[in-house]
Amino acid sequence: MRTFRIAPSILSADFARLGQEVSDVIAAGADIIHFDVMDNHYVPNLTMGPMFCEAIRPHSSAPIDVHLMVKPVDALAAAFAKAGADIITFHPEGSEHIDRTLGLIKDAGCKAGLVFNPATPLSYLDHVMDKLDMILIMSVNPGFGGQSFIPHALEKIRQVRLRIDEYTAKHGGEIWLEVDGGVKVDNIAQVAAAGADTFVAGSAIYGQKDYKAVIDAMRAELARVQV
Ligand code: DX5
Ligand code: ZN
Repeated sequence: MRTFRIAPSILSADFARLGQEVSDVIAAGADIIHFDVMDNHYVPNLTMGPMFCEAIRPHSSAPIDVHLMVKPVDALAAAFAKAGADIITFHPEGSEHIDRTLGLIKDAGCKAGLVFNPATPLSYLDHVMDKLDMILIMSVNPGFGGQSFIPHALEKIRQVRLRIDEYTAKHGGEIWLEVDGGVKVDNIAQVAAAGADTFVAGSAIYGQKDYKAVIDAMRAELARVQV
């Protein structure tokens, strides 16, 4: 039985009450806090730097999953490791030297992952599987919360699941398959059936009053999936 993890994205939280929003969603059953970093260069939006990560760290008993939508990556990855990140993922297009960036994140004591936009080819995985703790498939184009799930992502998730299973059967270890963008109660089962184990949801959770009701409904949907 695959372990499923729900990772609310604080991009859709009330930024004026960020610490409380983090602890509330953990009390409601979140497994991971997803932290979206946008630089108005790699993506057309601007969000939170390492100081925010440091500020919410004491409010989170869950791992903080920093999703870097930035270019260049290296200096910010190091700064987020210092600011208390547990997992750091980045887009291959943001780094000139992907292998070096992955190594830098792992040397800083964090889990490392690569993120794939809807049109980014999976061939970036070919030579770095041994350095990955997570693969993140974007089911929207990055930059904003509240967009609709792009159905083609399901096919990509299936392909990544095959690659992960093949790699871990041969070499052991564990690589999480996270999906980000437009994940909701009504499609989470389909995303899980395609092979994902970790589900980012921003507007679906923070857009409702009762976070626990949404997370419980997501878990009920996941319980129906046979994997
Ligand atoms: C988009 C971000 C997502 C975003 C998801 O660029 O990476 O993490 O917060 O938001 P929803 O769940 O509303 O699509
Ligand atoms: Zn994200």
